[in-house]
Amino acid sequence: AAPRITPVELSARKGGTPIVCLTAYTYPVAYLLDPHVDLLLVGDSVAMVLHGHKTTLGATMDMMILHGQAVMRGSRHACVVLDMPAGSYEGSPAIALAFARRLIGETGCNAVKLEGGVDVAAQIAAITSAGIPVMGHIGLQPQSVEKDGGYKIKGGTDAAIAALLADAEAVERAGAFSMVVEGTMEPVAAEITRRATIPTIGIGASAACDGQILVTDDAIGLTVDRVPKFVKEYADLRNTVSEAAVRYASEVRARTFPGPEHVFQPKGTKES
Ligand code: KIV
Ligand code: NA
Repeated sequence: AAPRITPVELSARKGGTPIVCLTAYTYPVAYLLDPHVDLLLVGDSVAMVLHGHKTTLGATMDMMILHGQAVMRGSRHACVVLDMPAGSYEGSPAIALAFARRLIGETGCNAVKLEGGVDVAAQIAAITSAGIPVMGHIGLQPQSVEKDGGYKIKGGTDAAIAALLADAEAVERAGAFSMVVEGTMEPVAAEITRRATIPTIGIGASAACDGQILVTDDAIGLTVDRVPKFVKEYADLRNTVSEAAVRYASEVRARTFPGPEHVFQPKGTKES
């Protein structure tokens, strides 16, 4: 089998064919997406999307490891990136490296991702220096929404634009192989992409980015909570699931399921 796409290969695609990224948390979804994407992110959004937490602060190391292992079992082609959960890297570069080593060691994932710019550059440098590829994540940082007082789009003032450009530069200089740019004004994401020599992966950002990512459950219409404006729904799984449940329930109540083809008869009796 062909080997997985590596972070180094993705880095080399700066300015080329856009890099296709989606989140995955489970074996079947990883299996279904793997042939079609370049990168699968085991995002800490798993805490909200699959576990019903109010924010991504509900993600734990154990949660990330279990879902990372499931996604690795379900995929063989995509580069798999695992989010570092809140609390696992902010403290110091040494703490960040220790937790990054554990995430990679227990899952076999290709890289880790962490949120922040100038503030976490030392952490990114420590992890990449140890040979573990890092994806940055700047702009809207879901682990900080409580602190920020909600989901706020970034880059609306000159000061905010300058801060974003500084974050992008810091992440690149620290050795990240690419960076997610989330929830910014469109021209700012385009400018970050022009300046950076590593690929930018946009979400609520700009079509000019070097790639795009969405939360898969949002993109397939399975998210039951609020869906952000930047999401495009490519399928309507909410209705598909509800309609299947309605038909199943009515057939169980009418005793038309299970049918003769779904049950077992002892040998020598006729299936009627
Ligand atoms: O956790 C996540 O799903 C993410 C992406 C939205 C970039 O960080
Ligand atoms: Na995340």
